[in-house]
Amino acid sequence: MTLADRTAIAELIVSVENFNKSETDCALELVDIYLQDEKQSDYNVAIAEDSNSKIQAYACWGPVPLTKGAFDLYWIASRPLSRGLGFGRALMHWVEQSVMSSRGRLLIIETSSKESYKNTVGFYSSIGYEEIARIKDFYDIGDDKLILAKRLS
Ligand SMILES: CC(C)(COP(=O)(O)OP(=O)(O)OC[C@H]1O[C@@H](n2cnc3c(N)ncnc32)[C@H](O)[C@@H]1OP(=O)(O)O)[C@@H](O)C(=O)NCCC(=O)NCCS
Repeated sequence: MTLADRTAIAELIVSVENFNKSETDCALELVDIYLQDEKQSDYNVAIAEDSNSKIQAYACWGPVPLTKGAFDLYWIASRPLSRGLGFGRALMHWVEQSVMSSRGRLLIIETSSKESYKNTVGFYSSIGYEEIARIKDFYDIGDDKLILAKRLS
């Protein structure tokens, strides 16, 4: 991702139907940290484009501080009209390769159990992420935190 992609990524993030205002603000904040500080290594951002170079998906991930080889996936989203076309899977494959090339061995995803995230959890499951922990009522009463993981080596 480069600075030239920021407007398209901001539009994509705002268009995601299951992100609320706090989530879009947080997602954009991480994009801006990535773009504005070239020395930082906490956040990586990558985009997936179609054959017309139009941005269709993006992902943000980084190493978990104080661990050897654990990485967090912070955000991934594809355009609502481009779901199911393989952009999410391709991007996750790219993220996993990048994590492994940084000697990462474990990719962790934290997500929500609420209804609007059901499709997302189905997506993660279809690409090999397993639920390893659940914190009941974490985000809200009836909205658990799901911790999903994939061992990369
Ligand atoms: C999650 C998300 C990124 C997936 O992106 P996508 O581009 O639609 O994913 P793909 O088209 O690559 O699908 C990959 C696989 O997941 C599967 N999949 C997608 N949605 C699924 C669902 N609801 N249940 C089961 N499998 C599902 C697809 O069938 C596909 O499998 P296949 O390749 O074997 O056919 C997209 O749905 C999204 O942006 N959701 C909203 C934002 C969000 O919740 N982000 C995560 C929180 S940070």
